[in-house]
Amino acid sequence: MSRRARFAVCLVAVAALFSTGIEAQGSPTVPKGPIIIGHRGASGYRPEHTLGSYKLAIEMGADYIEPDLVSTKDGFLVARHEPEISGTTDVASHPEFANRKKTKSIDGAPVTGWFTDDFTMAELKTLRAVERLPDIRPGNTAFNGIYQIPTFQEVIDLAKQEHVGIYPETKHPTYFRNEGLPLEERMVAVLKKNGYTKKSDPVFIQSFETANLRVLRQLTPLHLVQLLDEAPLRPFDHLLSGDPRTYGDMMTPAGLADIATYADGIGPWKNSIVPWDATGHSLPATSLIRDAHAAGLTVHPYTFRRENNFLPAELQQGNPKAPTFLHATGDFPAELRKFFDLGVDGLFTDDSDVAVAVRAKWLKR
Ligand code: G3P
Ligand code: CA
Repeated sequence: MSRRARFAVCLVAVAALFSTGIEAQGSPTVPKGPIIIGHRGASGYRPEHTLGSYKLAIEMGADYIEPDLVSTKDGFLVARHEPEISGTTDVASHPEFANRKKTKSIDGAPVTGWFTDDFTMAELKTLRAVERLPDIRPGNTAFNGIYQIPTFQEVIDLAKQEHVGIYPETKHPTYFRNEGLPLEERMVAVLKKNGYTKKSDPVFIQSFETANLRVLRQLTPLHLVQLLDEAPLRPFDHLLSGDPRTYGDMMTPAGLADIATYADGIGPWKNSIVPWDATGHSLPATSLIRDAHAAGLTVHPYTFRRENNFLPAELQQGNPKAPTFLHATGDFPAELRKFFDLGVDGLFTDDSDVAVAVRAKWLKR
């Protein structure tokens, strides 16, 4: 039975099906096991954060699709990984916007380009998406110039139509709040308008900052996920407030206990679970999954990608001397199996097709 048909005959259970990774595991109509999150859609195959990318992830069987959210000048939330859009759109080739090129400070670093908060939604809609990683994913450039930047509402419309969950991320929340375009209240308003109001609804909200998740905890009962960057780094709001804690501190049992006071799960970098040595080979797994579970937190690491470029050395395949070696597909299934074995509750992937297939086989082991 197809995913869509399964949902059609189980309408009463829909709200509960995707309520959390853990509850989804127990559903009779959803495959047991970790949830598969289509990272920026199916960004291994299409320019990221486009309806084409999200649709393909859904066709591949992703349980959730992930829009990173930024704001337009007129207050619409749109799906982009960062406010600066020259790497993912054709904005630089629009002479009418040449004078919008600026240098701004994003999280303390100067960034030069074009920023979503200098464009109205209507203006952004005149742009077209392009592939972010043309060297690693040259095939995706065939789709350059086709897709618009989608609004959050358009992503939600698609997710509801196709009966998958959404996993929105607030991007650079301090930056947007300082620009007079805070993300949190508007995101929750859009979610409410679409009926996402209960813990059991198929939504996870994520952020690399901490203060805005604490604010969000007061605004919504939906699942909140604390993203965790590399251990030596600090959340930008910690830098601003003088809080000395790094992401590494947040991954200790004490740090995880604190996260559990305002969030439901963590989204760590995959190397925080399986670190690499100096030669790029995997080291033994850390205790992060176990410690997070002990604190009552779900664990959804990022980002799983099929190309050698993103795999540990022992899983890279092919001739290293070949010019295409880094964008050749390595033993990606082996990496996925390893993380499933380690006990993740879900994972972010650019390649939902492989993750869904590996999960299906893994469940029969
Ligand atoms: O949100 C999980 C993962 O997407 C975090 O990394 O930079 O791809 O948003 P990023
Ligand atoms: Ca993200």
